[in-house]
Amino acid sequence: MPEQYPERAKGQEAHHVPVMLQEAVDALAVRPDGVYVDCTFGGGGHSAEILRRLGPDGRLLVFDQDEDARLNLPEDPRMVFIPENFRHIGRFLRFDHAIPVDGILADLGVSSHQFDEAARGFSTRFEAPLDMRMDKRQSQTAATLLASLDEKALHLLLERYGEVTNARTLAHTLTEYQQSVPLKTIRQLKEAAAPVVKGNPHKYFAQVFQALRIAVNDELGALEALLEQVPSLLKPGGRIAVITFHSLEDRIVKQFFRYGSLDAPETDDIYGTRRESPLKVITRKPLLPSAEETARNPRARSAKLRVGEKI
Ligand SMILES: C[S@@+](CC[C@H](N)C(=O)[O-])C[C@H]1O[C@@H](n2cnc3c(N)ncnc32)[C@H](O)[C@@H]1O
Repeated sequence: MPEQYPERAKGQEAHHVPVMLQEAVDALAVRPDGVYVDCTFGGGGHSAEILRRLGPDGRLLVFDQDEDARLNLPEDPRMVFIPENFRHIGRFLRFDHAIPVDGILADLGVSSHQFDEAARGFSTRFEAPLDMRMDKRQSQTAATLLASLDEKALHLLLERYGEVTNARTLAHTLTEYQQSVPLKTIRQLKEAAAPVVKGNPHKYFAQVFQALRIAVNDELGALEALLEQVPSLLKPGGRIAVITFHSLEDRIVKQFFRYGSLDAPETDDIYGTRRESPLKVITRKPLLPSAEETARNPRARSAKLRVGEKI
């Protein structure tokens, strides 16, 4: 299921409603004098709740690769904003003399602020350039990505990241189209794909856009890079909480918490011993949002929260 966003009228101001707010911050078991990291500051909802639970000596370091997130920063001397990709978490925490930390939170994907800003190109509802970058300093956009991929690579991307049912056909159609006209705008993409859209067009394009967005921002690569550093950043007993919005992300988090490695074997090694994970799994099954929350906030529908603890 692609990430879900509420339909809004054009121009209507977006307010990001934090997903699984209490559950995620409860999972961190915030200590008043602890040091915490919010890897995905966004609209600052989770950070505000962490700050509420921190005492005057607590610290909160927040990352967001989107400079615009700065607009949502509260004035709070306990907080530091790091406008960078969380894949570099270790380097920046070291620079801030913040290691080891008591807890790390990541609430993945894009925020409603980004999604509802037409010019960012994340939403199928607007006419805008095919951009989709969370970090506007990055050179690759959805348009340059589409121009650079061959048919096979595009097919795999649409299938893997979007679970687009007719990924092969769509990749062929888009590649043919691009022989004469480069795909630069959302309208062009929709026009090019129109003859092969399957099922509900809104859902179909949500899947296509999800696939492109994941690739443009290398979302899975950033998540993997973050997770690999987590054990060396947390204090013993420190917690990591991750909210994911699709199965590819969830699988990576589940596997990492279980084995402490991204490439862990499913079976025991040749000596019959299982690789020791530096993390204890706190959530054997992912926590899901309540029915009340999903009714109130459609974006919460696909959310899963997993929590690990440094041993
Ligand atoms: C779902 S929103 C977070 C919302 C936030 N928890 C709140 O309560 O408002 C995700 C945010 O993380 C940022 N983000 C996503 N991936 C990132 C990455 N790899 N590095 C830094 N920031 C990232 C996005 O720019 C976006 O603002």
